[in-house]
Amino acid sequence: MPVAGFGTRFLPATKAIPKEMLPIIDKPLIEYAVEEAVNAGIEEVIFITSHTKVAIENHFDSNFELEEKLSRNNKHEFISLINPEKYKNVRFTYVRQKSQKGLGDAIAHASHLIEDEAFAVLLADDLIFSEESCLQQLINIHENSGLSVVGVNKVSKEDISKYGVINPSVEEDRNIFVNDIVEKPTIENAPSDLAVVGRYILDSSIFGYLKRVSEDKSNEIQLTDAIKLMLEEKKVLACKYFGKKFDCGSKVGYVEATLFKALKDESMKDMLKKYL
Ligand code: UTP
Repeated sequence: MPVAGFGTRFLPATKAIPKEMLPIIDKPLIEYAVEEAVNAGIEEVIFITSHTKVAIENHFDSNFELEEKLSRNNKHEFISLINPEKYKNVRFTYVRQKSQKGLGDAIAHASHLIEDEAFAVLLADDLIFSEESCLQQLINIHENSGLSVVGVNKVSKEDISKYGVINPSVEEDRNIFVNDIVEKPTIENAPSDLAVVGRYILDSSIFGYLKRVSEDKSNEIQLTDAIKLMLEEKKVLACKYFGKKFDCGSKVGYVEATLFKALKDESMKDMLKKYL
């Protein structure tokens, strides 16, 4: 999970706390992503962090003082919230990205820990609500095919230039073979309306391709460019997942996700509907 970005769009909130710690109601964005990974059977979570992100390390660590106080005050229901049972056997590992040189560079920082396994990449600011999680849907495809898989969804023309966009070929069920992938194309050059979301299952060969990618004009190493190189030698699948995605890296997406979640909450929805 790369979490080393600056979160510029949320300044000043993200000056001292990571964007990924912003909550949707009462749970930080990063925890939604960690839950999605752990529920899909992932046993080790590697965070690519920076010096401003220590709150994430603390969040996934124990807080004995707080636990003891909650216990003394008979507030046991909160203990399971701050120290969930399901994380007990999960290993959390932290690697620092020294300078923010893009998503591709962030991921390359985990190469020594991954060696030759396939691994998942989740971007916490893409929050996806679905019955079967988006990551699980990608894992199912990976387990059947053995190939790298990227999550994609349809986006409008006006928004296409914000994303990595695939050139799809044959579609079998909801699985699409990727012919090509382009980072932030212009509307005219976009090869389709299928944009990559922050969910990937990648073959460890991606690390070799990342080494060959040069910095773009904003001095970043793009993951999309490494996948483009991978496509010259390997097949990659795209998964048009079922689910509702919110881009919580943008203010509108963040507020929409908060409302979506609140309007599903029995304890809040009637009051909120009245207010809205
Ligand atoms: P974004 O493109 O959303 O950038 O990164 P950002 O810095 O988080 O936010 P803005 O655009 O300044 O508002 C996509 C993901 O890649 C991570 C981010 O933490 C986010 O999860 N990332 C990005 C890194 O880990 N390192 C980088 O150098 C860049």
